Amino acid sequence: MRTPNRPITSWANQRVWVIGASSGIGAALALHLLHEGATVAVSARRHDQLLEVVAGQARASVVAFDVTDALAWPQAMAEVIEHLGGIDLVVMGAARYDPTHSWEIDLKQVEQSFDLNVVSVYRGLSVIVPELVARGTGGVALIGSISAYTGLPRALIYGATKAALNNLAQTLYFELAPKGLSVYLINPGFVQTPMTAVNDFKMPGLMTTSQAALSIARGFERGLFEIRFPRGFATVLRLISYLPDRLRFYLLHRFTGM
Ligand SMILES: NC(=O)c1ccc[n+]([C@@H]2O[C@H](COP(=O)([O-])OP(=O)(O)OC[C@H]3O[C@@H](n4cnc5c(N)ncnc54)[C@H](OP(=O)(O)O)[C@@H]3O)[C@@H](O)[C@H]2O)c1
Repeated sequence: MRTPNRPITSWANQRVWVIGASSGIGAALALHLLHEGATVAVSARRHDQLLEVVAGQARASVVAFDVTDALAWPQAMAEVIEHLGGIDLVVMGAARYDPTHSWEIDLKQVEQSFDLNVVSVYRGLSVIVPELVARGTGGVALIGSISAYTGLPRALIYGATKAALNNLAQTLYFELAPKGLSVYLINPGFVQTPMTAVNDFKMPGLMTTSQAALSIARGFERGLFEIRFPRGFATVLRLISYLPDRLRFYLLHRFTGM
């Protein structure tokens, strides 16, 4: 059977734009792909931090911008195309995480999280997808989260933003695959990054950023649609999400202790 996306068999001819690459998973992925031979542009707000991430890498370019600024997107894409000579794959990973309980909703946080985690993805897609469709080749990868699979404690805002991306990626795949484009949904479990440093609980299946980067690259190479990891924890959570309501909530209460 054919794979959902065309497998990326060599990174040497791939021009990749990693957005959200000044730290954590995005930074590790950019470095991994550079080591594999790709040409990579890295973006985030912190210019100096981006420079530090790709220091000494000849095939790397830095394009700093704020993804919540709609007007900055066309300019950023033009700069990336100028640096790389074109774009074969865009990885969209800029996001924030504010652990929140249902009884402590801060509307400012809700608006800012949806604006960054979801609306900014649409901002990016609105400039990137027409370009890729016109060329009839290339790929887009959204970084979601396995917290999108089912409601989890304190994921009140974050989980909902990532569930939105899980749905969005499926529609993108549905519409863009027939046009020759690749669409990927990356659903990480817990990864040790500045984002998860706020968690004061034991994170099951916690991975390093290098392990996460390797899993993502392998997913691209295998032509997957959904790239989820770590395999064990992500699969268990996926299976739990399919269970009948009472059993699902019972197990989640037991596992999370909440
Ligand atoms: N770590 C995990 O356990 C985990 C699990 C599931 C999913 N994820 C997802 O993986 C992705 C990367 O997360 P991470 O854990 O690696 O977190 P991280 O280290 O905090 O990285 C977040 C990145 O987003 C950038 N960013 C934030 N706001 C931005 C803005 N307005 N404009 C441009 N860039 C912005 C940050 O750079 P600047 O501050 O320089 O702008 C940074 O490069 C996110 O989508 C996250 O939701 C992470």
